[in-house]
Amino acid sequence: MANNTLSVTDNRTGKKYELPIEEGDVIRAADLRQIKVGKDDFGLMSYDPAFTNTASCRSRITYIDGDKGILRYRGYPIEELAEKSNYLEVAYLIVKGELPDREHYERWENNIKIHTMVHENIKKFMEGYRYDAHPMGMLLGTVGALSTFYPDANDIHDLESRRLQTRRLIGKMPTLAAFAYRHTKGLPYVYPDNDLSYTGNLLSMLFKMTELKYKPDPVLERALDVLFILHADHEQNCSANAMRAVGSSQPDPYACAAAAVAALYGPLHGGANEAAIRMLMEIGSVSNIPAMIRKVKEGERRLMGFGHRVYKNYDPRAKILKEMAAQVFEVTGRNPLIDIAIELERIALQDEYFISHKLYPNVDFYSGIIYQAMGFPMTMFPVLFAIPRTSGWMAQWAEMVRDSEQKIARPRQIYVGEPIRHYSELASRPKPTQREDAVSEAI
Ligand code: ACO
Repeated sequence: MANNTLSVTDNRTGKKYELPIEEGDVIRAADLRQIKVGKDDFGLMSYDPAFTNTASCRSRITYIDGDKGILRYRGYPIEELAEKSNYLEVAYLIVKGELPDREHYERWENNIKIHTMVHENIKKFMEGYRYDAHPMGMLLGTVGALSTFYPDANDIHDLESRRLQTRRLIGKMPTLAAFAYRHTKGLPYVYPDNDLSYTGNLLSMLFKMTELKYKPDPVLERALDVLFILHADHEQNCSANAMRAVGSSQPDPYACAAAAVAALYGPLHGGANEAAIRMLMEIGSVSNIPAMIRKVKEGERRLMGFGHRVYKNYDPRAKILKEMAAQVFEVTGRNPLIDIAIELERIALQDEYFISHKLYPNVDFYSGIIYQAMGFPMTMFPVLFAIPRTSGWMAQWAEMVRDSEQKIARPRQIYVGEPIRHYSELASRPKPTQREDAVSEAI
């Protein structure tokens, strides 16, 4: 039987070390600390900007095999969930670890729905945003503000409190998102309608006008549900990492979720589908695709909606969305950008550059086209991502709180600044020209 250790020889000292290799083919970074040149030496550290090769936790929530294009929540393949389940059931699975039986599902649905209303003060708070405020910025602020409405949420080590905050936030996210959208349109806010499904109610709060009761189109309601299933969790991505890192100093989960929304706001994360749509609009027609491919290969551009840190194969979520787009277009009319997208994908996947770089469409390549066909402005795309990701964030946060190995997140650094120097009086400091480079580098 193979010895599950890593033998290390430090050529600076000639000393040998045996480091245990643990489950998951990992070594503990802290084990490197014993490798020292002298007694007072701090010990060896690993340097890993952007954590590209560092596991920060053990998790039971989401499994991804990027080389094979596999995504599973709690062991269930994403394809099966997208075909057979609905978002609220998937949220239960992600948060609690198992699929519910009928009784637990009904209780869960009811428990989420009784939290769809928000305090009237939230409305007033929202009215304070400028008429043209970005809905994601508004969502970020109001999720953080929930912290002030629920001081009981501080009790993060209490299981019942964690459960309550989870139900509250999953229940309220659609309402906050819809209020942000209505604010940008100058339309009155629509209160939740709990007769409708989770996504049907969201559509009602977004699009209801003068009708007494909003009737969501069943195809669009289901499409949104599938989109929500696909976006519910994605293991240790930027926003999940923000949720855990902020959570590690033990504030309430609303403060953590605000940080996660902020992380999702960026164009390299939740904002990528907007960038993909803008690129497709810029290409404009199928005949312009070769010119764009040429620019990408010459390193002038990136194909937005292509490539992924983890998937080095077709993103399974993109495959599901590509097929779903046709159903949505039967209701909404065809989004002409789909023709450019399909042809771009066809050409790219035959091209040596994309093959050798293992670049395939990711979830953002098709989600924006569907959202746009459904009538959403691009500024709503990251908001529509944040709603379902809330179940993932809360599950990641709760797992972190319960994990006895976790401590306050506090990476090390390699200091590359000035060695010690001594304070000089204002009058005797060097002239600005001599200090210019140093000062401009610092901002
Ligand atoms: N178009 C063209 N070339 C690309 C692309 C792309 N979209 N993505 C990566 N490459 C190339 C890089 O130029 C680099 O080539 P080189 O080795 O010849 O220099 C190589 O592939 C590796 O690229 P990295 O940037 O090192 O890969 P990384 O894992 O850091 O980046 C990322 C992943 C950010 C997703 C990247 O592929 C990208 O920018 N894609 C476009 C934006 C996008 O679609 N983001 C959505 C991600 S999914 C999500 O967040 C839900």
